[in-house]
Amino acid sequence: MDSQKVNITELTRKISEKGQVVAKTPSRLNYHFMPQIGWMNDPNGFIKYKGEYHLFYQFYPHGTSWGPMHWGHAKSKDLLHWEYLPVALAPSEAYDCDPNIEGYGCFSGSATTQNDDLVLMYTGDVDSKEIPQTQNIAISSDGINFDKVDLNPVIPNFPKEATKDFRDPKLFKVDDTWYSVIGTHNETLGELALYRSKDLLKWDYLGILAQSNGKQGTMWECPNIILSDKNDFLIVSPMEGTVNQKPIYISGKANLKEPSFKQSGQGILDYGNDFYAPQTMDVDGRHILIAWMSQWFSKMPTADDGWSGAMTIPREVTIKNGRLYQTPIKELETIRVDQLREIKNQEVTHLEQDISEASELKFNLQIPENYAGTIELEIADCEDTTQNCKLTVDLKKSEIILDCSNYSVEQREICKAPYEGTGDTIDFDIFLDTNSIEAFINNGETTITNRIYPEAKLKTMKLVCDNQKPFVVNAFSAWKLDKTI
Ligand code: FRU
Repeated sequence: MDSQKVNITELTRKISEKGQVVAKTPSRLNYHFMPQIGWMNDPNGFIKYKGEYHLFYQFYPHGTSWGPMHWGHAKSKDLLHWEYLPVALAPSEAYDCDPNIEGYGCFSGSATTQNDDLVLMYTGDVDSKEIPQTQNIAISSDGINFDKVDLNPVIPNFPKEATKDFRDPKLFKVDDTWYSVIGTHNETLGELALYRSKDLLKWDYLGILAQSNGKQGTMWECPNIILSDKNDFLIVSPMEGTVNQKPIYISGKANLKEPSFKQSGQGILDYGNDFYAPQTMDVDGRHILIAWMSQWFSKMPTADDGWSGAMTIPREVTIKNGRLYQTPIKELETIRVDQLREIKNQEVTHLEQDISEASELKFNLQIPENYAGTIELEIADCEDTTQNCKLTVDLKKSEIILDCSNYSVEQREICKAPYEGTGDTIDFDIFLDTNSIEAFINNGETTITNRIYPEAKLKTMKLVCDNQKPFVVNAFSAWKLDKTI
């Protein structure tokens, strides 16, 4: 344990020296969480502890591509302004460290509180091709310094129904009992193993809680569970299957006593190219979700500036009509610094507005009667409008399309989602940052998240209906958003 502490102090010193340099580069985002330096992937251990939100993340501080995994750490009072803290976990023990191989480390996991302590459960990886992944516990009494417990690995092996790909434990508590769901698979199907504990150290295997229906992936990474009176929801990041690498939610009913999950529905959480490994936190009556705003196979040009990977804005997840909706957390309203435009109940033929690199655009539009054309929002560089991305709602095909190919550094898939709206209005809430776009359509019924790489900072937006006939804007606001980090 001592070796880990020395290691971390040294690391933190290096990061804060270099971090200053990185923080000034033009590729930094304004209000999205990013690592100070180095590589970041999944959010981990998302929790409120002693009145503050803590966010941990898969972190490789010594390079801008994936390497031996550490847990980076930050805290915040409002989920928007983050203070970087020392690295919480570094590979140091036989179960999470083997410098003789390429991939190893403290893989993804989650957090809980026990009395006054902050407790992390994470996967130890020391060559997952040969050696089974294990589950481990680290405890902190000050929320900053963590000790790996001597009893590690607390779950040393995978159950017989699973395989050595056995990772990303998500802790949750029902009454006075902790549970942990762990992502794994059998020969062909992604599945979740369920464990139970009274003290977080001794774990009993209960059985397989849920399994892919054959189309939901061959391995389930980064599970989450939302329990509610009516429907329960699982959120998983599936590998392969028809939803390859697009995180899904599965609705149904969970039985924790005799593990089973009766599926009743499924949905794609976000149709973008850059959304993976979401983690949810249940706090003060809300379910808050944050995800890695990137993907394993995405190009990351910010690596030239010494950092790769960012988080989405925090989103509130709500349950309506048996499905999940995601909306920007209400705290985001506090970073609207400058209202660039406001319109209410106006008939327009099109709508144009110059906007800043960090903007929110919120619309409510009246769909013209019997209209079966498209409504298109184009975001373009002011000087060169061929540099752009387009969000189109095609009412005829009932489809939403986000095409960012003119703002991309590589050939990316054009994102397509079903348009599920049935009313006579359309609602958009769009968050733009230096190199990202997050679109929330119809109050979070559909979300699409992409990294984009515009050349210019100043942008302009244009909204049109394809028949050029006037349409009614019930409400439109554009805001410049503040820097938070
Ligand atoms: C998901 C994931 C996890 C794993 C982690 C390693 O993106 O593959 O399953 O724990 O990343 O960094």
